[in-house]
Amino acid sequence: MSNGRTLREESELKRKAMLEMAHDLRSRVSPSTPPATTSPAQYQRLTDFGTLDLYQEMRKVRAIADVVRLESPFFRIHDGQSGATCDIDGRTYTNFASYDYLGLNGEPSVGAAAKAAIDTYGTSVSASRPTAGDRPLHRRLERRIADHYQAEDALCFVSGHATNVSVIGELLGNGDLILFDALCHNSIALGTKLSPAARQSFPHNDMAALRAILETSRRKFNRVLIVVEGLYSMDGDVAPLPELIDLKTRYGAWLMVDEAHSLGVLGETGRGVFEHFGLSPQAVDIWMGTLSKALSACGGYIAGCRTLIEILRFHASAFMYSVGMAPPVAAAALAALDLMQDEPQRVAALHRIGERFVTACRVAGLNTGASIGRGIGIVIVGDSLKTAKLAENLFARDINTVPVTYPAVPMRAARLRFFLTAKHTDDQVDTTVAAVREELDKLEASKFGLATTAAAAIASIMDAVALILLDASRIVGGSVSVVITGA
Ligand SMILES: Cc1ncc(COP(=O)(O)O)c(C=O)c1O
Repeated sequence: MSNGRTLREESELKRKAMLEMAHDLRSRVSPSTPPATTSPAQYQRLTDFGTLDLYQEMRKVRAIADVVRLESPFFRIHDGQSGATCDIDGRTYTNFASYDYLGLNGEPSVGAAAKAAIDTYGTSVSASRPTAGDRPLHRRLERRIADHYQAEDALCFVSGHATNVSVIGELLGNGDLILFDALCHNSIALGTKLSPAARQSFPHNDMAALRAILETSRRKFNRVLIVVEGLYSMDGDVAPLPELIDLKTRYGAWLMVDEAHSLGVLGETGRGVFEHFGLSPQAVDIWMGTLSKALSACGGYIAGCRTLIEILRFHASAFMYSVGMAPPVAAAALAALDLMQDEPQRVAALHRIGERFVTACRVAGLNTGASIGRGIGIVIVGDSLKTAKLAENLFARDINTVPVTYPAVPMRAARLRFFLTAKHTDDQVDTTVAAVREELDKLEASKFGLATTAAAAIASIMDAVALILLDASRIVGGSVSVVITGA
């Protein structure tokens, strides 16, 4: 006997568990997909990381970029602090590639707070907070964030991305439903994939579509969580918070709002999307945000009711099983929050420069999509290759911006993004918009784009193939015919 069961019962239970495990494994291998390999040599070949689809995709993109001699715009090395300007390889650029919305990165009081925290607590808490304990800075920061949202409590995580993955991924269970905006950030989408709850996206900011889903599906699920962003960083537009609150109340759902790009940016004093609409923050169930953008630190947070925060403190794996926020990071975020509140002129300057950027783009006939001119400027170009080339040509004119191409945005909606800061000058914005117009005109005049480049690449490959075959035919003295088929 063991656990009150006979040996026979025990072995029957084990047999059943084994059968279930085997069934589980079988169900994960699609029956329509035959094993890719059969021999040990083939298995060995698959241990080469270069055989992964991800790597093959990267190589394809690199090959196309090489055809048009396009340098990678990613991972450039910045010397010193980057804000409205940055220094790369000995040159100074007007910089639109940092989320330093309020120009707080490098502010003396923020740096001094971080240095003082290092002197007192060191650079790390060296383990998770349940294990290594809290520091007073953690508690102060969480109290400040909770007060910001008039919430009962708040919790800080070491990464904004991990905050979304963990909280969205772990809060709900079987029989629940997560509805999220189709343009939500990767961390939100990933969280919904991790969750055992059902998941469905709704078209961006389309409240009629969301209402239709709730109308037909609400009764089939226990709990429903709706996830949106306050300010969408790919498009620069805002979630319709009043309608969302109305829907979540009517259908008995929770509403979670990611304020990564809204904090310090939306609303007259930068309090976020609730201030933008003049609403009480208490109408939202879960406020999520990051310390890495306007607050020039690092990490994520959740603010909400005491019960929610208590659950997360013990069950959000990104908090429970990850190191606590480093003391200098928490101190920097606190000092940045002080500056945000004490110097609302920074928010006003950011609003003014954003409006100038969007207006100047529209006057120049550039497509700014749905952007409202708060913190983020968008110029939709369409063709991915043309967008990347445009960014490169602007870089040659000392303007640093990052192209956003498929799959981050839909295929024909590649764009340049310009992150504005309170410290950008009128002259920097005007010069940049004029340069974008000029460089785009040049690319359009030369018909530069994916279609023409692909045709040129295919033509040059065909030339090379024809030459090789011609050579071959000379060598063997025969004749060669080349049949080209295509769509
Ligand atoms: C909407 C949104 N949520 C979450 C994150 C992740 O935040 P972090 O970069 O601080 O980890 C980002 C990052 O850009 C974001 O844009």
